[in-house]
Parts: sequence; structure tokens; C-alpha cells
Amino acid sequence: MNDQRKKVAQFVLPRGFAGRVTVIFMNRGHKSIYKNVAKVLKLQPEDDLLEVACGNGYFLRKYAPHVHSVAGLDLSELMVKSAIKKNKARITEGTAEIVKGDAVQLPWGNNRFSVVTTMGSFTIFPKPLGSLKEMHRVLRPGGRAVIAIEWNAEDGLDHTKHVKKYGMKMYTEGEARAMMKEAGFSEISITYAKGFMMPKMMVVRGVK
Ligand SMILES: C[S@@+](CC[C@H](N)C(=O)[O-])C[C@H]1O[C@@H](n2cnc3c(N)ncnc32)[C@H](O)[C@@H]1O
Repeated sequence: MNDQRKKVAQFVLPRGFAGRVTVIFMNRGHKSIYKNVAKVLKLQPEDDLLEVACGNGYFLRKYAPHVHSVAGLDLSELMVKSAIKKNKARITEGTAEIVKGDAVQLPWGNNRFSVVTTMGSFTIFPKPLGSLKEMHRVLRPGGRAVIAIEWNAEDGLDHTKHVKKYGMKMYTEGEARAMMKEAGFSEISITYAKGFMMPKMMVVRGVK
């Protein structure tokens, strides 16, 4: 691991022992995110769901056991291994797949999923528009995308440190809408929810 890589925060790319500990706290701290996203996703038994930056696959296992198929993608090798372990039963059954990859280059063909989501991660994506375009590409016509942007420029918090130290991006509602539109989504709607240390979590929904 080079020096530059060492500086990457654990929540951006979980790895090693510290990554294992981080993700335990992440699952607890993100409970309100999972609940709010699930509420907007309204997952149905016939859905084929993709979660981009799925972490250790907690959401897929806990909130999507009833859907037709689930897929998860994450950049962290540690997270991919954990997500495979967590969703092993479904993988064996053939209704789940977990892969290592980047949000900006999804390894699936066009129109593969009926639902795509990402949570707890969008502000750290280096190429947010490219990632949204990819999510749009792999969705089938009529499919829905739900993007949670927990910290944002509308929430009244001072994010100077997060922006400077971690390179996180804080989006306004207008910017989020514009990116969704440019990525090709229609019927864009934004709702807000509250969570632990998240006074105004943005939940962005769009349809292909
Ligand atoms: C804060 S964690 C959130 C994990 C999960 N969504 C959750 O809420 O439990 C951020 C995740 O994004 C992943 N990640 C960061 N950059 C990524 C990228 N460009 N493509 C895919 N995953 C990425 C990290 O490896 C990490 O697992």
C-alpha cells in the first residue's frame, strides 16, 4: 500500500482490521439511512435490485430478502468478502451476486435491473455524474433509482472539514436534480428524512 492510499479514510475504502471495526459501527450508524431508503424504494417480490457501494451487504440481506434477485458492487475487497459472507445463502441459491468494482463502470449490461440504489456513499464518489449515468444504463425502462445523500448543502451543518479532509462533495437540491436529469432520469423527486447526525438526509428518486 502506498503513502497516498494510507491517507484514504476507512469509511471511504474500508480495509484491514480497522475496516472491520468501522463497518460494525457503520451498520449501526446507518440504520436510519437503510430504513428511509427502504421506505422510498418500496421493494416488490418481482424486483431485481442493485446496490452500488453496498459495503458489507447489510442492506441487501436485511431489507431485500423478498425480492427476485439482488446484486451488490463495492470498491473495497474487504467489503466484497464480507458482503459475500453475509449473503452466502442467496448466492448459493443463485439469486444474489456480489462483485468488486467501481460505481463509474458497472459490470452489467443495459436494462438488467428494475431498481438501483446507493446509500452512505454518493458524496465520496469521485465521478458522481458518471456513476448516475451507469445506474441509469443498467436500469430497465420504467425502473427506479433511489440515491441517498445523507450530508448535503441543505442540511445546515458545517461540512468544511469533511470537504477538505475527505474530499466529500456537498450537493444542493438543485445540483442533485440537475445531475439526475443529465444522467437521463425523469420523474425526479426529492424527499428529506432525519437520522443520527443527519438532520436533513436527501433521498433522491428518479425513473428511467
Ligand atoms: C460509508 S460506506 C457505506 C457502505 C454501505 N452503503 C452502507 O451504508 O452500509 C462507503 C462504501 O463505498 C465504497 N466505495 C467508495 N468509493 C466507491 C466507488 N467509486 N465505487 C464503488 N464503491 C465505492 C466503499 O468501499 C465503502 O464500502
